[in-house]
Amino acid sequence: MTTRKRRVLGALALMFVVALSGCARGCTSSRPPIHINPSMDDQPKVLPQTASTFFYDGASMRQPVPGTIPIGGLKEDVAFFTGRGADGQFVASIPVTVNEALLDRGRQRYAIYCQPCHDARGDGKGILFQRANVPTASFHQDKILKYADGQIFDVITNGTGLMPGYRWPIPPADRWAIIAHVRELQRKRQASATVAPAPPPPRSGFGEVSPKRANNARAKAEGIK
Ligand code: HEC
Repeated sequence: MTTRKRRVLGALALMFVVALSGCARGCTSSRPPIHINPSMDDQPKVLPQTASTFFYDGASMRQPVPGTIPIGGLKEDVAFFTGRGADGQFVASIPVTVNEALLDRGRQRYAIYCQPCHDARGDGKGILFQRANVPTASFHQDKILKYADGQIFDVITNGTGLMPGYRWPIPPADRWAIIAHVRELQRKRQASATVAPAPPPPRSGFGEVSPKRANNARAKAEGIK
């Protein structure tokens, strides 16, 4: 074989190798790339949330050491996070400053999370009641008026009876904001009950005032739209 022929053959062989492996990186293909050196890409390892035969509990993921606190997860302010004081009793009042900003936030969060069931005025005449007659607590009953703020926090956090808990969708700060708004609703109802009594009774001959009109009149008296 002449040197020239050998060179041509060598070049052809090189092109063949490049054609085989040259596209392992940089080209897209539906086939898995040719893996000449598997290095550490293929190795026995556990992936998150998978089963494992190695550990006794059958789970690949390990529990954190008891007492581990994630960064930003220190919950030193027990009252703020649980609604209970150091004595284990519900705190009487909201453990943060109640100002306009908090009330605004509470009004907004209430409209999202509570209003569908408890209605805008807190009478418990929301969709569950309207559609299925589900007895939904009114915030204007004596029992809830007398609840400590911490107890309402506990109801939002853990739910009660037919009401589900809202621990996950509503962070603690927003729960307190909602409570501030609920207290505002109660205060307005109390004030309207003492200052501006019930809407005028129906004039005789015109039949009963429809519940909707009575409700509207009451909302007007309380200044709620
Ligand atoms: C899915 C409907 C629903 C939603 C949403 C809802 N509640 Fe309730 N809530 C209920 C029902 C139903 C009851 C009555 C529970 C019972 O007595 O079985 C209730 C009861 C309550 C009570 C009285 C608990 C007691 O001890 O008697 C409070 C306070 C309360 N809800 C606050 C809230 C607040 C604040 C929100 C918003 C974060 C909220 N609820 C969202 C349905 C709901």
